[in-house]
Amino acid sequence: MNPCVVYFSRTGNTKRFAQAIADMTKAPIFDLTSTQPSALADFDMLILGTPVEGASPAKETVAFVESIPEVKGKKAFLFCTYRAFGNERAMKKIEKMLESKGYMTVEKVSKKGMKPEQTAEFSKELAEVKKALEKQ
Ligand SMILES: Cc1cc2nc3c(=O)[nH]c(=O)nc-3n(C[C@H](O)[C@H](O)[C@H](O)COP(=O)(O)O)c2cc1C
Repeated sequence: MNPCVVYFSRTGNTKRFAQAIADMTKAPIFDLTSTQPSALADFDMLILGTPVEGASPAKETVAFVESIPEVKGKKAFLFCTYRAFGNERAMKKIEKMLESKGYMTVEKVSKKGMKPEQTAEFSKELAEVKKALEKQ
């Protein structure tokens, strides 16, 4: 697999999670607010992260996914950060949107209750990312 990490982050939590995944996988990392969807063409796995807002993905994430070109046989790994609720619903929504673009989601990981500007411990989540990537 040749993955890239793409994320949106309003207050920094999802960015820190994204960076931890990129550090571990050595995958390139893109902030979706400054990335063209065509940049994904070089990669066969999309590792996509978003904050949960209103029990949905952030609207910026939704707009980006809507603009992704259709593909054949690519995979996705989804992650989110959230305070308390709505993570399952938000990730299901992205999964469905990506499915309509031709991406099969292999795993979804949520990180609850991060505080902006505080260090976070990602070892459990990173182990899940590693396991999912090794299976591909
Ligand atoms: C406008 C807004 C709406 C939010 N809605 C939810 C929500 O529905 N459920 C939840 O658990 N957290 C919610 N949160 C909290 C964020 O999901 C959480 O703080 C997340 O880690 C922020 O990620 P970020 O720092 O990458 O933007 C919301 C935050 C904002 C700013």
